[in-house]
Amino acid sequence: MTATITLSTGQQMPAVGLGTWKSAPGQVKQAVLAALDCDYRHIDCAAAYSNEPEVGQALSERLGEGKLWNTKHHPDDVEEACKKSLSDLRLSYLDLYLMHWPMAFERGDELMPRRPDGTVRYDNTHYRDTWAAMEKLIDQGLVKAIGLSNFNARQIDDILSIAKHKPVVNQVECHPYLVQTQLVSHCWRRGLAVTAYSPLGSPDRPWVTPGEAHLLDDPRVVGLAKCYNKTPAQVIIRWHIQRGVICIPKSVDSSRIKQNIEVFDFKLTEEDMRVIESFNRNERLIIPTIIIDGQKVWRDAKHPHFPFN
Ligand code: A2P
Repeated sequence: MTATITLSTGQQMPAVGLGTWKSAPGQVKQAVLAALDCDYRHIDCAAAYSNEPEVGQALSERLGEGKLWNTKHHPDDVEEACKKSLSDLRLSYLDLYLMHWPMAFERGDELMPRRPDGTVRYDNTHYRDTWAAMEKLIDQGLVKAIGLSNFNARQIDDILSIAKHKPVVNQVECHPYLVQTQLVSHCWRRGLAVTAYSPLGSPDRPWVTPGEAHLLDDPRVVGLAKCYNKTPAQVIIRWHIQRGVICIPKSVDSSRIKQNIEVFDFKLTEEDMRVIESFNRNERLIIPTIIIDGQKVWRDAKHPHFPFN
């Protein structure tokens, strides 16, 4: 197991990066500095996390990965959105720029444009047109590589059918409760690396149900951690990278940030790799949901680009 994954362009991508979704302004700068101090060279950021300016205070010329938000899919908006992230992050280029979701939201600066009933206002820009605009960012030297996030197999193939610059990564929700075997294999067959977001099962996701049992507290994970003399988080991170999946555990705590990259001095047995895979319950923790009549349902699930249909 190496500490980097080779992308289809030949570039090396660090297998463990720092996640910044949910890291509050006032905390994220310290988190990024702590990560850089313990040799992270992969920081996952996004305009939609509303903390890029503060991430930028910690970054200089490091490995940065950003994401284009859904309100900026229109081909006329892509370059400006990328330049805004670069300016917020204080970088002259990004190593990797992802399309955050396949579906476009109404153009503008409102991150989540909604109707009064809570449903999202979409824009009908197709992700293929957004992709063509993202390709120009490479030609302009603003980004070194481009990729996808939250795309399903069919949508990946759709992009590949028109791509001049191929997507190098698909970043999706992935953890032992959602192992994504088919999608991961599909990406690899097509030459895309896979990055797992919410790799620890995102215990701090905003819509978590109070009292809900978390992956990190799963007695089977805790038991394995004891056997290896590691923490539950380290065992899960090791499981991701040992199966060849890049992951971006989020933390704002310097000792946990350090702990999360100390995963290269042990190896899970093949059997324990399979045991962890067997925890799968195809459970999506991170999907855009709304509550209707007390039920959690996918928001606008009928949208043609909704990734999970
Ligand atoms: P904190 O930021 O206080 O460290 P994910 O990356 O799946 O979204 O999970 C992030 C959540 O997991 C955050 O609540 C984070 O808390 C917590 N976390 C990150 N690393 C560890 C760790 N090594 N041990 C326990 N909890 C962790």
